[in-house]
Amino acid sequence: MAPTGTNKHRVALVGTGHRGGGMWGKELIDGWSDDVEMVALCDINAQRMAGARQAMGTNAPMYTDFDTMLREVKPQKVIVCTPDHTHDDFIVRALEAGVDVVTEKPMTTTAEKAKRILDAERRTGRRVDVTFNYRYAPTATRIKQLLLDKAIGEVTSVDFHWYLDTRHGADYFRRWHAYAKNSGTLFVHKATHHFDLLNWYLKSVPRQVTAHGALNVYGRNGPFRGPRCKICPHKGECDFFLDIGKDPWLDMLYEAPSAEDGYVRDACVFREDIDIYDTMSAAILFENGVQASYSLNAAMPIEGYHLAFNGTKGRIEVRQYEDQPWVEPPADQILLIRNFKGVERIWIPTKKGGHFGGDDKLRDQLFRSDKGDPLEQRAGAEAGAMSLLTGVAAYTSVRENRPVTLKSLLD
Ligand SMILES: NC(=O)c1ccc[n+]([C@@H]2O[C@H](COP(=O)([O-])OP(=O)(O)OC[C@H]3O[C@@H](n4cnc5c(N)ncnc54)[C@H](O)[C@@H]3O)[C@@H](O)[C@H]2O)c1
Repeated sequence: MAPTGTNKHRVALVGTGHRGGGMWGKELIDGWSDDVEMVALCDINAQRMAGARQAMGTNAPMYTDFDTMLREVKPQKVIVCTPDHTHDDFIVRALEAGVDVVTEKPMTTTAEKAKRILDAERRTGRRVDVTFNYRYAPTATRIKQLLLDKAIGEVTSVDFHWYLDTRHGADYFRRWHAYAKNSGTLFVHKATHHFDLLNWYLKSVPRQVTAHGALNVYGRNGPFRGPRCKICPHKGECDFFLDIGKDPWLDMLYEAPSAEDGYVRDACVFREDIDIYDTMSAAILFENGVQASYSLNAAMPIEGYHLAFNGTKGRIEVRQYEDQPWVEPPADQILLIRNFKGVERIWIPTKKGGHFGGDDKLRDQLFRSDKGDPLEQRAGAEAGAMSLLTGVAAYTSVRENRPVTLKSLLD
């Protein structure tokens, strides 16, 4: 529900790129305008912000300075959609100005920054929401219910394997995500979603992580390289060639605005200085004794995941596909296999919309929800911290070739 005394949530947006301009910009304004008023936009790139504002169809004032925006507009809520390593700065400044925050995932990229946010939230008494949209996907909701109902007894271990295809996966290697200092590697940037799902499903947090990572396809592995696709001499022979001019949204958001900050959207995926992994795995031991084996591959011919919970009385198994070179039925199948009792097939209609349909439900929860939160899907700073710290532990484990406890990161 909108706050008492006003008709709508007065929301300001910082970071008007793809996620800010789309999910938290145009889509929010188009679908949630009865509950949300966009009161200001902020971005360091004025040209990108102006293009995004036009696409959103709002007259909200534009700022390149965040503190000036907070002071002049006094929003109730700030939505943070800037690159990952900058989130903490905006979150803490907003909290200190008495403003609640919705931040895109990962909440931030290091243990120090996570502690800074948790301290600021405690000190100011304001609230941070982290946008873990996958918790709201109908298949995830059903699995959570089965686990709460103890359909397979006590969970003892989990197999969780996520696949990014050569379109989506490659995108992380084209821009700022490709450097660990910006994204914390995909163990933080992407796997924060998956580690959060595990924490939420299991109602626990990891104690120790042992991980491996390698760069096998992108970066220095490329057979050739160029500065960026648009002017690359190898465009005719490169499977990863991205024709940015063919996508009006990307072209508007990045092409002309790149003159302002040099941020090109089609940088070469074979740049030699890329320092994140495309192949990752981790063994995770949870505080409640559950063991999880996790992997993330970023150059696959399929997009989606395989997930199984093994319990004392059976197994829950799901394979959810987002994109693959064959046709899947328009429903996802959860297999509930009980020891000595055979299988029950549970069909969940495939939900249209971003992140298996999670994006819409997340916006409902944040801006419309008056139905409570029985499955505890709304995620705060604590959840944001525990999932990103799992990624930080994994990245540390790869670099230092040793198991890493989450406690050691927090101390
Ligand atoms: N929840 C999800 O499923 C999901 C999906 C996509 C992206 N995201 C997250 O959204 C965030 C943004 O991703 P994106 O793909 O839109 O990135 P992007 O690069 O398209 O946009 C980032 C924007 O931030 C602006 N910016 C950079 N530094 C700034 C600063 N110091 N002050 C103000 N503005 C600044 C840039 O100019 C740009 O407009 C990331 O944290 C990403 O992880 C989440």
